[in-house]
Amino acid sequence: MSKKTIHPAQVVAGGVVPPGDKSISHRYAMLSAIAEGSSELSNFALAADCHSTLACMKALGAEVQGDKNLVRVTGHGLHGLKSSKRSLDAGNSGTTIRLLSGILAGQNFTTRIAGDDSLNKRPMKRILTPLREMGAQILAREENFAPLEIFGGNLHGILYEMPMASAQVKSAVLLAGLYAEGDTTVIEPARTRDHTELALEEFGVPIERHGLTVRIPANGKVKLSARKIEIPGDLSSAVFFIAAASLFPKSSLHIQAVGLNPTRTAILDIFARMGASIQMLSLRSAQGEIIGDIAVKGAELKGGVISGAEIPLMIDELPMLAALGPFTEEGIEIRDAAELRVKESDRIAALAENLRRMGAKVEEFPDGLKVAGRSAGKLRGAVIEPHGDHRIAMAFAVAALGADGLTTIRDAECAGVSYPTFYEDLARVTEA
Ligand code: S3P
Repeated sequence: MSKKTIHPAQVVAGGVVPPGDKSISHRYAMLSAIAEGSSELSNFALAADCHSTLACMKALGAEVQGDKNLVRVTGHGLHGLKSSKRSLDAGNSGTTIRLLSGILAGQNFTTRIAGDDSLNKRPMKRILTPLREMGAQILAREENFAPLEIFGGNLHGILYEMPMASAQVKSAVLLAGLYAEGDTTVIEPARTRDHTELALEEFGVPIERHGLTVRIPANGKVKLSARKIEIPGDLSSAVFFIAAASLFPKSSLHIQAVGLNPTRTAILDIFARMGASIQMLSLRSAQGEIIGDIAVKGAELKGGVISGAEIPLMIDELPMLAALGPFTEEGIEIRDAAELRVKESDRIAALAENLRRMGAKVEEFPDGLKVAGRSAGKLRGAVIEPHGDHRIAMAFAVAALGADGLTTIRDAECAGVSYPTFYEDLARVTEA
């Protein structure tokens, strides 16, 4: 296991180009594989998770050719996938297994899919319930966990009122809807990222959207055509740099070509509310997604409470926010975020443990945590245990820049799940 030592910094300056968006890359890899023809995906995420998706689509008969972040996927239409002899491996990726299960539920063959130890412990009932309601037969370990065995075919459309705000569940149902007889409608309890809807529209599927309701027309009325797609940079990766630059008064950082889809930018509103100095520049649109640059300068962060409907819109950014708590005036409190306990790690426990290792004052709740602000004292370097979770490793690498003394991130390479060049990029913009 690799270790990484992080030295305290004085300033974060220069430019950074975050990797392609992980969420969007998954969706385009899957949709290209069930479209007719060759799609060209530029700035495809280097994330290990997205390469798990590409490998699954290849095992299902799509042709995948790639040179780093330029990927060409050739599909043979909605009914062009073939059964895989081997079990599919989703690796560490919840998005791969949950979204792909929606597509697999519609195939006229059986597929087995599983992931690594962490993924095989994450809840799948949330997708099993609606997919079974659509007619799919799925076996799961203890009715909730991978490996999943999906006996596809003969789906019918449903109206599904989601009990939870989850883009993965919404997407699994919509993708199964591509194969269903009759329309499929999903109603979300709160807004979540809409990359699946945008990608479906881009591939020519006439979906309908009204408020929190999305409807996808029945099988037979849809056909996906290959596309040339530019994938925006990943805002969830950029957030580590926004946080790092904010820590030091003399910072000035330019982050290029970041995805600024409004269902992802709630984190920027929180930064602004906390007093961060952020400017969005050079906005343009590409395939329904908005892309722009972000300029960040150092600022005194106020801190505050994050809860309610804001939580699903910034679920992946909460580790970084929590780790910023000790640098803020009032501290940071996160509530209504029990979902963090079933991510790549139990993120509430992992945050509390590692913040305490660095000397922070933390209160842990079933649905969140409260991290005391600056008055509780400066963080000190420590040994960080990320529990195999990329976002925990990166959040503490950033917190370490503002601590006294050296920090060691254990198993640092787990960052590669979303951001393989994270430590190099961070080192390039930090000055001691
Ligand atoms: C994702 C949705 C979110 C997020 C995950 C990616 C997606 O999960 O945490 O990293 O690509 O749809 P949930 O849908 O479980 O909230």
